Amino acid sequence: MAVLVTGGAGYIGSHTCVELLEAGMDVVVVDNFCNSKPEALRRVEEITGKALVTCDLDIRDREGLRKVFASHQIDAVIHFAGLKAVGESSQMPLAYYDNNVSGTVALAEVMAEFACFKIVFSSSATVYGPDAPVPYIETLATGPCNVYGRTKHMVEDILRDACGIPESQWQVSLLRYFNPIGAHESGKIGEDPQGIPNNLMPYIAQVAVGKLKSLNVFGDDYPTVDGTGVRDYIHVVDLAKGHVQAVRKLDKPDPGCNIYNLGAGRGYSVLEVVKAFEQASGITIPYEIAPRRAGDLAEFYADASLAKDELDWEAELTIERMVADTWRWQSNNPKGYE
Ligand code: NAD
Ligand code: UD1
Repeated sequence: MAVLVTGGAGYIGSHTCVELLEAGMDVVVVDNFCNSKPEALRRVEEITGKALVTCDLDIRDREGLRKVFASHQIDAVIHFAGLKAVGESSQMPLAYYDNNVSGTVALAEVMAEFACFKIVFSSSATVYGPDAPVPYIETLATGPCNVYGRTKHMVEDILRDACGIPESQWQVSLLRYFNPIGAHESGKIGEDPQGIPNNLMPYIAQVAVGKLKSLNVFGDDYPTVDGTGVRDYIHVVDLAKGHVQAVRKLDKPDPGCNIYNLGAGRGYSVLEVVKAFEQASGITIPYEIAPRRAGDLAEFYADASLAKDELDWEAELTIERMVADTWRWQSNNPKGYE
């Protein structure tokens, strides 16, 4: 089976390429490297001892995509390519809608031209919106409250609508990720954010290597176990394995659209993550309590039982593994891939 991985050089994409190659699949990556480096893919090959095909291409370039499909027999697409910074998305909404929504339409149109109708899409728990009760279950009403979340929601609608037309051959898996952290256990690939990280785990990791001075903990007065925000952290390798299962499931003949939460099904607070990281690294993480971050929720975590029942997948790696693997990656590569 040959899988086209858009955004395959990125954080989740590179880990998924490893798992696909190790599962014996052929991999073709399309990435424009706007938020990643080719070195990540070189390291994927180093880890697996297998080669993949890399195409330096923007998914909005239909002609370029046609050439990729014409030169490779693609059975399915895993679609990671997109912009993902929530704060930035409200500063440059048109760029986000163009990249994430128009990019997906271009990709789906070219797929259809080449009779490739199987797609796994990177959605996000952010589509559930601020009023959803925990744990989040796939049948809940959605209502994202930021531009980034709306781009994910729109793409979900577009792909679901493609499945709804008469005689549709589309087979779509919408994967709603919770909070991916961690890195491959080799320490060769991991999250390499550009500039100051927005997300908790890379921020902690950069404090640990001395790149940043201290962590701001956004709020300690939430109604949670210790007052800090609670999230469902999932090891990126577990998440990558979820994609392998999702793509395998598309190998069955039935068309249609399925939605799966990919999370661990339990939450950890900011301070619990800090403590786990300190234990794994032996380094004290200085932190200060700061005001709540606009748009943050107190607590959310997944009900991931549908993925267990239908994809035969569940998250296995513990928080201790997540922080230990993050630390190995960060300490081996204090400057990321550079
Ligand atoms: P990432 O930025 O590391 O990877 C995205 C990749 O897509 C990058 O390599 C980037 O260069 C590429 N890309 C972006 N726009 C492109 C375009 N127009 N054409 C070709 N390549 C393009 O992000 P990630 O953390 O690996 O996330 C992957 C996907 O999962 C994204 O769609 C993101 O929105 C989604 N997601 C991520 C998280 C998270 O916490 N990391 C959570 C939920 C959903
Ligand atoms: C954020 C996005 C979400 C996106 C997800 C993964 C927002 C509002 N939400 O989610 O849409 O899907 O990233 O990319 O941006 N924290 C600190 N200090 C920090 C960073 C974070 O205390 O420097 C806290 C946050 O308040 C939160 C927790 O750590 O309680 C996790 O934050 P983060 O890693 O940014 O993920 P989310 O907020 O869940």
